[in-house]
Amino acid sequence: MKIAIEGCCHGQLDDIYGTIAYLEEKEQCKIDLVLICGDFQAIRNEGDLQCMAVPPKYRAMGSFWKYYTGQLKAPYPTIFIGGNHEASNYMWELYHGGWVCENIYYLGNAGVINYNGIRIGGLSGIFKENDYNKGHFESSPYGQYDIKSVYHVRQYDVAKLAQIRQPMDVFLSHDWPRGVERFGDLRSLVRKKPFFEREIRENSLGSRANEELLTILQPKWWFSAHLHVHFAALVDHEKWKKNEYSESAELVLYGSKRQQHPVHNPDEILIEDELAASARTAAVPNPDEVPIDLDDDDIQSDSPAVNEMIVTDSHSTPVSDPPSRTTRFLSLDKCLPRRQFLQIVDIPTPENAKDGFFYDLEWLAITRAMHPYLSLARQASRLPSKEDLKQSVEQELLYLNMQLDMDELDLRIPSNFTASSPAFDPSVPKSPEQIHQLEYPFINPQTVEFCNLIGIENKINPHAQRFVAPATDNERKT
Ligand SMILES: [Fe+2]
Repeated sequence: MKIAIEGCCHGQLDDIYGTIAYLEEKEQCKIDLVLICGDFQAIRNEGDLQCMAVPPKYRAMGSFWKYYTGQLKAPYPTIFIGGNHEASNYMWELYHGGWVCENIYYLGNAGVINYNGIRIGGLSGIFKENDYNKGHFESSPYGQYDIKSVYHVRQYDVAKLAQIRQPMDVFLSHDWPRGVERFGDLRSLVRKKPFFEREIRENSLGSRANEELLTILQPKWWFSAHLHVHFAALVDHEKWKKNEYSESAELVLYGSKRQQHPVHNPDEILIEDELAASARTAAVPNPDEVPIDLDDDDIQSDSPAVNEMIVTDSHSTPVSDPPSRTTRFLSLDKCLPRRQFLQIVDIPTPENAKDGFFYDLEWLAITRAMHPYLSLARQASRLPSKEDLKQSVEQELLYLNMQLDMDELDLRIPSNFTASSPAFDPSVPKSPEQIHQLEYPFINPQTVEFCNLIGIENKINPHAQRFVAPATDNERKT
């Protein structure tokens, strides 16, 4: 299955889909799925715009609302996670995941689903220590603090993902797992982004929550964005445990390739000669690259033109498959001219896999087991011990398997998108009061349906305003 990976979307859906269509034509290939690693900006209306944390000059309606109303349809099945620039009120409606419009699925604050037999998990938001141990207390309209804290990752959601025992194919996060840069061409990264140097040396670049998940889940693939740079790494989990990094990283961090591997000293200082020496080292091979550079002029033309394309599809040769306990990490840039924002990877699908979107049984069991501890207060709930949690997830798995056997549970994700809030209409200007009303929470029918499906109480906007879409002309006639 060919998957197109996109870094930050920043509302550029039309450009991304246009580039993929161009690529299909040029390469004579078919893209089966698009993955977007956050900053998606699913802005439905003027109220959503007020719920997104961006400087006022970046507050643009974009084109998502056209997909939301059905004027445009996503040409490829698309899965995304949230970043730090989102319509956070809309993302919260779909805390457990769901369709933000037809054919585009949001994984939720944390989530795992299966597409054509490929298991895809993700964690939305970015890590900030101060908010990590809080509950999901934010509610729109947001104040100046909670418009930011709302997208900060919570320990509860990470703890849910950390319960996963079955193998993961693909994992998405917006910010990088902390330390992952040490398994790629660190020298080149420091040259491209010299302002990361201090954080790299202090081992504070990226998210410690994602680091924890990377080492627990050890997925085959991990895709990220946020730092707006193209970077690949091949993480060897055994070496990670022993603090052994790529040769390029060791030269940057220590000035030479260590003969032995002492515990890493984060306070070591980079000096120019050491950087020069590291420049002569070979990078970790970048797996499965299809980087694309776009010209400034090209991006403004009707059909996006690719300036230069290099295809090194090493993944199609099975001999180069890395041993188990490795993760291929890839971070993409944002969708801008001359940036490497898109990459195609080929991931084999299991035989006899069912086509389409499916809920993940283990994830449903975890969601049931941990739902009592989902806190909407400022204070998070105290979680049971690891052993107790493990046992209750196992019990929930047994229960859900029984439901499956009795045909009382259907894992196929229904195509049940409905508009949950009014859509932007450029012909109808809104007053400030009308816009403010749109910032208040809406109940999302998909979330209600999901909670009913797995038998949990709906805690997400249960008493909020409910939007009923006006009847279409055809519906009025019948
Ligand atoms: Fe971001």
